[in-house]
Amino acid sequence: MKGLVFTTFYSHCEEIWGPEMLDDIIEDADLPNKGAYTSVGTYPFEEMVALITALVRRTAQPMPQLLEGFGRFCFRKWVAYVPEHFENKDLFDILAGVNEFHESEVLKLYPDAELPSFKVESRDDQTLVLRYFSCKPLADLAAGVIQGAAAHLGERVEITHRPVADGTNAHVRFEVTRLA
Ligand code: HEM
Repeated sequence: MKGLVFTTFYSHCEEIWGPEMLDDIIEDADLPNKGAYTSVGTYPFEEMVALITALVRRTAQPMPQLLEGFGRFCFRKWVAYVPEHFENKDLFDILAGVNEFHESEVLKLYPDAELPSFKVESRDDQTLVLRYFSCKPLADLAAGVIQGAAAHLGERVEITHRPVADGTNAHVRFEVTRLA
């Protein structure tokens, strides 16, 4: 996992719970290098799991809720890298084009990023159905990133998601519905 995700997680943690909480979870997680990350480095996903698990223990908030909040924060921070891509756009167009965005813009900045992929299953004016494929169990984070994108574009949406065990093609099915 890219160090950018770790450094973004640290900022999020500090913003919401303060610097002492961040020090506490770094200690609890018992990380190599005392939890020092650079945004361009690549680190084992297990280290992120250890940090999030420590935060769940210390805050007593459920993991899905924490991941979703972190996902919203990620979008808020990351949109600053390429703001023009997200200006005056339709949310469903942005979501339908996430793979191309990740491949063209994100891989330019982070060539070894291990990115998820999204496939549009169906789309009308009201509802977009997406399949999310990833080697990491981060559907709640993805829901937060989508909520963050919706908020950025001034849209209100409801998001539901459920895992689909489809032989070797396991994925998560997202339904994004615009609210009035
Ligand atoms: C609507 C827009 C976006 C969506 C829905 C989205 C979704 C996601 C999700 C769900 C993940 C991580 C989970 C996984 O590995 O399965 C991810 C990873 C990532 N995304 Fe995006 N993203 C969006 C925009 C952006 C933007 C604007 C940036 C700009 C820097 C970005 C950069 C990254 C990076 C660096 C990773 C980490 C890859 C790694 O750990 O190797 N994404 N994205």
